[in-house]
Amino acid sequence: MYLTKEEEKILAGEEGETLQKAMGILAALGDIYEADSLIPIRSAQISGVSYKTIGDAGLEWISDLKGTVKVPSVLNPAGMDTEDRERLNIDPHFAEKQIEIINVFRSLGIRPQCTCTPYYLKGFDISFGDHLAWGESSAVSFANSVLGARTNREGGPSAISAALIGKTPNYGLHLAENRKPTVVIRTEMPLSGADFGALGYLAGKIAGSGVPYFEMTDIKGRSGSGDGAGMIVPGKDELKALGAAMAASGAVALYHIRGVTPEACRKDFEAPSGDRETEIVTIERKDLDGVYESAFTESGESVPTDLVTVGCPHCSAEELREIASLLEGKTVVKEFWIFTSREVAGDNADLVRKIEESGAKVVCDTCMVVSPAADRFSCVRVNSGKAYAYVPGMCGAGAVFGTLKSCVDDATGKR
Ligand code: F3S
Repeated sequence: MYLTKEEEKILAGEEGETLQKAMGILAALGDIYEADSLIPIRSAQISGVSYKTIGDAGLEWISDLKGTVKVPSVLNPAGMDTEDRERLNIDPHFAEKQIEIINVFRSLGIRPQCTCTPYYLKGFDISFGDHLAWGESSAVSFANSVLGARTNREGGPSAISAALIGKTPNYGLHLAENRKPTVVIRTEMPLSGADFGALGYLAGKIAGSGVPYFEMTDIKGRSGSGDGAGMIVPGKDELKALGAAMAASGAVALYHIRGVTPEACRKDFEAPSGDRETEIVTIERKDLDGVYESAFTESGESVPTDLVTVGCPHCSAEELREIASLLEGKTVVKEFWIFTSREVAGDNADLVRKIEESGAKVVCDTCMVVSPAADRFSCVRVNSGKAYAYVPGMCGAGAVFGTLKSCVDDATGKR
């Protein structure tokens, strides 16, 4: 990879050990992936924040870093609510280590906002075509697909390095030629709410690490017409759920939807069709129905749910409103955790209060997957395709996928 004179000096250690280390990581990645050069980034989102995932080795690695990031940077969810460890019964030793990790990141000038929905944060704006270095897979998918920005899925060290240098190697999804669809996925049925998580769960397995192009129409036979009749236009939260699930069941970091997502609307690539070599797969209602209510445990056995969680990815204000409305006048009979960012919770304190009147807990900075809190439960009901894919492996608990209403019904003893 070509380095400018200034970049070479950094690599030679003329600006200190931390930047030398960061430049070394970026240069190595650039060489491996045959990037032509480094390109400036607008922001970074650092993954590898939870003590559950990085442990002492990760803490030691970041503790050696000095200096200040060059671009606005935030964190992925941590292993606990950073202001209230007792909220989910986090062990004091874990909490101490987690706070140490956050403080190291803070000392590097990284905003200690721990969220997988950084696109909701004020002052963290993203525009079409921006180059980013983001780490969390659902955030990467949303940035690429819904916002039309460009980011690879960065690991913890590469995202920190990019933040410290203010640049990233120009390869992968930063290049237009890698953003073209590789598979067409058709759905010809009405879709709403959790359907998008179920669809993403199935589509991720089909697309793998490719770039799916969705044709979503409400009635069978309309997909091929290409005239937009009966086209389904998902909401922002539905797009978020779709991308998150595909990133977990597969490794999808970018998707397009005909007539919906920005690059598909701009026709930045030739729309795939049956007469070209792109594979076309149809997902039907019976396929989605197979995801709902089926238990997914490591051992394959079915166990009753003892925990309900929503907010994977972190809830938007609209989702908090819907949860508050569904919980109105009800009392939960089992643990019900709702995950969101501290900023969204703070901006919607009235909704948080209404939700918590039911006994449910609105928890910030973390989630059921990256926190050790869910590890003590046997089976978790979720409304997220991503959580459905990850909970068994990451928490050692079973998972059941259902609608948001089914989550509220389960938590309030109505199922
Ligand atoms: Fe976010 Fe955790 Fe889900 S990081 S996308 S809430 S697994």
